[in-house]
Amino acid sequence: MEIEGRIYHRGEIIDAALEIDGGRIKRVKKYITGAKRIRGVIFPGAIDLHAHFREPGYEHKEDFYTGTMSAAFGGITFVMDMPNTNPPVSDAESFNEKLRTVSRKANVDFSLYFLLNENAQILREHNAAFKLYMGETTGAKGSEVTYVPHSFISVHAELNECIKKESTNLREHDLARPESCEVRAVKTLLGMGKFHIAHVSSVDTVDMCKVGRFTCEVTPHHLLLHRDMPLGSFGKVNPPLRARWIAERLWEELLIGRIDIVASDHAPHTVEEKEEEFSSAPAGIPEVETYVPIFMRLMRMEKIPLRRMVEVLMEKPAELIGIGKGKIEKGYDADLIAMNFKDVRRVRSRDLHYKCGWTPYEGFEAIYPHTVIVGGEYVIEDGEFVGERMGKFVKIEGNKF
Ligand code: NCD
Ligand code: ZN
Repeated sequence: MEIEGRIYHRGEIIDAALEIDGGRIKRVKKYITGAKRIRGVIFPGAIDLHAHFREPGYEHKEDFYTGTMSAAFGGITFVMDMPNTNPPVSDAESFNEKLRTVSRKANVDFSLYFLLNENAQILREHNAAFKLYMGETTGAKGSEVTYVPHSFISVHAELNECIKKESTNLREHDLARPESCEVRAVKTLLGMGKFHIAHVSSVDTVDMCKVGRFTCEVTPHHLLLHRDMPLGSFGKVNPPLRARWIAERLWEELLIGRIDIVASDHAPHTVEEKEEEFSSAPAGIPEVETYVPIFMRLMRMEKIPLRRMVEVLMEKPAELIGIGKGKIEKGYDADLIAMNFKDVRRVRSRDLHYKCGWTPYEGFEAIYPHTVIVGGEYVIEDGEFVGERMGKFVKIEGNKF
């Protein structure tokens, strides 16, 4: 297949054409006779290293089909799915079982995390991506680090010993799981190996990551939302939403490159579950369909430069796990998204494809992709979902770390 249009290539938007063969980009050229013209601007598909698609066990919140469909509509062509399912992904059997089930439902490319445990050495052969929960959160108890494999290890850094159980509103939730709890957790990892710190919610945590030479991510909610918004338990998430000035400081850290990437921590719960009393409502916010479109809009509003946006959403996440995605270059997977910058729409939960049916970004301005291509095949064409279940499992290779 050959396509042409306005293409993001090496920091600029240029007129170019792509020759695609066997799911990969074979050539980037100035011009190819007969290439299909794609409207708008073409970017590499976004890479989300942190999603909870809830299979197996919590399919009433989301399943792999709706999760990856929402991802595609949100411009994401590769996701890493978290292991805090029921059963959790903690041994070869649960991994293979999950891989079998979700492979049949994947609408974008994907990979799967293991819970980091004593089997890590054996599990690495299946996929070298682990999640370490240091403290208790939705669907996980929190555990000690006993063995650190040479792998990509995403860490939920909060310590049980400094988490208070009870909170009745967002401000209290912030204080019940304070920033210092996150900073201390990261501190205990210093000198133990190489880690990637998930969803940093404090600038002090970023500083501690620098001390340990760890990479880190920030979520859209820690940048765009804060604890004083009238979200109630719908804004309850771990680590908690902080004060507004902290969200602003995290933006700066992202812009100057001290935070490496953005990852969604898409963690859907149903409206019913979220409507429970604050103290018992589950923590987690759905994200996967809205953050890339919101970032596109913010880029157009000059809140983030074009190049930096592509780095944090596409290039750097792919680099961190060592996969040939995230760039429009010869040899890279042909995972592409295209949008029209003039097509600014407001986020409406009724337009989204989540099972949970809500978003905290109601009314935010966004630029959604009208075309999404995964491995050279259309998943969304002119806004229509066309390519069902064509996502493939991508193995994360341990020898890259
Ligand atoms: C996550 C979930 O619901 O799976 N919730 C959250 O608040 N982030 C679990 C987690 O990663 O903490
Ligand atoms: Zn987490």
